[in-house]
Amino acid sequence: MTAVPLGLLPDNATVADDGSLLLAGCRVADLAAEFGTPVFVYDEAHLRARCREAVDAFGRDRVIYATKAFLCKAMARLAYDEGLLLDVASGGELAVALAAGVPPGACTLHGNNKSIAELRAAADAGVRHIVVDSFDELDRLDELHAEFGSTPNVLLRVTPGVSAHTHEFIATGQDDSKFGFNLGNGDALRAVDRARRSAAVELVGLHCHIGSNVFDASSFAKAAAVMADFAVPLDLPELVLGGGLGVPYVEGEEAPTITQWGNVLLDACAALGVRSNVSVEPGRAIVASAAMTIYTVGTVKHIPDVRTYIAVDGGMSDNPRPVLYGSGYESFLPRAVTAERDMTARLVGKHCESGDVLSFAAKLPGDTAVGDLLAMPVTGAYGHSMGSNYNKITRPPVVFVGDGDARLVVRRETHDDLMITDLG
Ligand code: LLP
Repeated sequence: MTAVPLGLLPDNATVADDGSLLLAGCRVADLAAEFGTPVFVYDEAHLRARCREAVDAFGRDRVIYATKAFLCKAMARLAYDEGLLLDVASGGELAVALAAGVPPGACTLHGNNKSIAELRAAADAGVRHIVVDSFDELDRLDELHAEFGSTPNVLLRVTPGVSAHTHEFIATGQDDSKFGFNLGNGDALRAVDRARRSAAVELVGLHCHIGSNVFDASSFAKAAAVMADFAVPLDLPELVLGGGLGVPYVEGEEAPTITQWGNVLLDACAALGVRSNVSVEPGRAIVASAAMTIYTVGTVKHIPDVRTYIAVDGGMSDNPRPVLYGSGYESFLPRAVTAERDMTARLVGKHCESGDVLSFAAKLPGDTAVGDLLAMPVTGAYGHSMGSNYNKITRPPVVFVGDGDARLVVRRETHDDLMITDLG
């Protein structure tokens, strides 16, 4: 069995002379001592580098960060400062972006069932685009127009009938989807006709998103071809081709880089005669491998001839992805980064159910012991953002590290936070 692949660690992870882990010059053991565990640690320069790579690949105002992957005020500001626009999928995500000081004109509102209140808030604030998902939403925008004369700039979300090779819960481009106007059955064209005739909206473009954690660049090219076929004759200014670029989580996985993704998409669009501005909405590819979660081992249980369980002080409440999608993660000990991982154990959390698994077959050094710090890389996307308070576990803090400094950007929740909405 092998040591953890260093390529899965954040860009600025290094191994000290004593074999222990440094992140952007900060000793992980010191971070754990200062902020406690579990803790999400993000390499800030890595985040910025991925934002810049995306802007280089697609151009300024052509990259819309999908905040659902990871959102806090510091992240919203960082993405905006690096020249990205923001995709918000609810009134709550919009509120965080605005509280961070991101101008509404840099935000796009998404969602397959936006409430009238969310639409009103977006129109009121003056967001850049509302991505309209259904005829019912067009009705709601008519109501808002009647109420206060709003005519937001809208894109129509089109379901292109392209299946992405990913987990069914995160595939969205196929005909059988809750999202968008189906191209195949004529709904997309009916929506375009209606939006063009409507006084309640200004139709500025089309949108599609085929799914998430997609590794095969040809799926994106296929969607671009289907969308171009529909979009070119309509000659609208904007075409947004969604997010979805996958990242390697475990040893042996390979995904296209953001640059390669840009080349595939932009070359395809140019060859297809697309004259619209082509934009994308990456989430995972910007943030996933920038972070790792640091836990502390609390119990090691060997059941002879059955298996070994190693329990850490977090679990499905800070990373539900293994349970939800069967996603794999690597793990290792920050005190011995390059140590051979010669033991296989089930890495579990502290929640009251057997399904609370972080890694079904974790490779770890055989001397892993109670009190050890344990690091799990590639937890920067859809971990903190999909966290919960199950078992009234408090959500972990988020720390940004850079140039030897650590900055707490989200503090750990307290027991008082857990009761803040509880009126007794
Ligand atoms: N644009 C739209 C309209 C989306 O629905 C999504 C993701 C994105 C962009 C960003 O996709 P990304 O680049 O991050 O793949 N919780 C799941 C992922 C759900 C993604 C939902 N939509 C997971 O943990 O894998």
